[in-house]
Amino acid sequence: MYTPLKTIDTTKKDPIILGIETSCDETAAAVVQGRKILSDEIASSASIQALYGGVVPEIASRVHTDEVATVVERAIKNAGITYADIDGVAVTYGAGLLGALLVGVSFAKAFAYALNKPLIAVNHIRGHLAAAYLDSPTLKPPFVTLLCSGGHTAILYAKSEAEFEILGSTLDDAAGEAFDKVARVLGLKYPGGPNIEKCALEGTANISFPKMFKGGGGYNFSYSGLKTAVINYCHTKEQKGEEYSKSDVASSFQQSAVDVLVQKTLDAGEEKGVDTITVGGGVAANTYLRESLQKQCKQRGFKLVLPEKRYCTDNAAMIASEGVIQFKLGNFADMSLNAKASIPLTKTLESTGTGMPKIKKGVE
Ligand code: KG4
Ligand code: ZN
Repeated sequence: MYTPLKTIDTTKKDPIILGIETSCDETAAAVVQGRKILSDEIASSASIQALYGGVVPEIASRVHTDEVATVVERAIKNAGITYADIDGVAVTYGAGLLGALLVGVSFAKAFAYALNKPLIAVNHIRGHLAAAYLDSPTLKPPFVTLLCSGGHTAILYAKSEAEFEILGSTLDDAAGEAFDKVARVLGLKYPGGPNIEKCALEGTANISFPKMFKGGGGYNFSYSGLKTAVINYCHTKEQKGEEYSKSDVASSFQQSAVDVLVQKTLDAGEEKGVDTITVGGGVAANTYLRESLQKQCKQRGFKLVLPEKRYCTDNAAMIASEGVIQFKLGNFADMSLNAKASIPLTKTLESTGTGMPKIKKGVE
């Protein structure tokens, strides 16, 4: 019989949570104790996916199936713990590639069932937001956070560890999506974001692309105009048979895309009267964004909590970190947990982080 909640103490100060993440092309597992990372393992299929110019869902699922058990075992071993020490098993149930998610969800369910441990359903985006707490013992809401991943770009007010208010968001493409699309136009390989960053290092931001500050006003922004401006610039040059510098285009695009994020996030921080800014999501691994945030937070008097680059891109420590938050709230899943390919941002930001009914007790 599966009865994990009969013995669980949700008031435990620093629960030990195993996190499992398989939403895209990274098979990841990690163990955290409260906010301390005990281990963090990743097996990526990115190099295989690069041969196809992007993520092939079927390949991602197959690699997860091959890797998940080994990666989880490694995370437990490297954390220096035994199965008995684990207080909860947190797994990304959405959003992401359905087949890929199903591998992690099925594994986590079987693992939790076999060990009679509580199962915690984690929303991938909430994981990105919870990355800020990793190894950051003093971070305490309220603060303003910039979420910039492949699928979402938004400025949020974190009222508590589990309550968020959307202050602004993209009206069209996400920032990461814009990086990926512009990379394709410039003939840069997958993954687009890091390759734009690399290419931009050789160039100068000497082309004036729209900064999209208006984007509907307030703290919203729009990336499709910027993307179109870059495409038009390249096509016009090509049609006229004129040479142009890819690295100057990459550098100018990067500056336009990032400056708006930084300025609006800090403006939102000022309006909300917070003293701390955090950031999460793959685009937060961008060095120009990180340096710009560091510089401007210093100038404008904000404390900046900037997760290490590897905790901005997909990883399982962030899933375990959100698992800790949900554990303390007593939000557990049962064996009916299923994967979800897409979850709207408003559902994502609901207090359970799952948009699913709370299961506080009685899981049998
Ligand atoms: O958060 P993430 O790893 O996955 C999602 O949950 O979406 O974000 C992936 C996105 C991709 O669009 C990728 O190009 C972008 O983050 N990205 C970057 C960098 N590293 C990853 N964008 C700009 N500069 C980077 N260094
Ligand atoms: Zn992600």
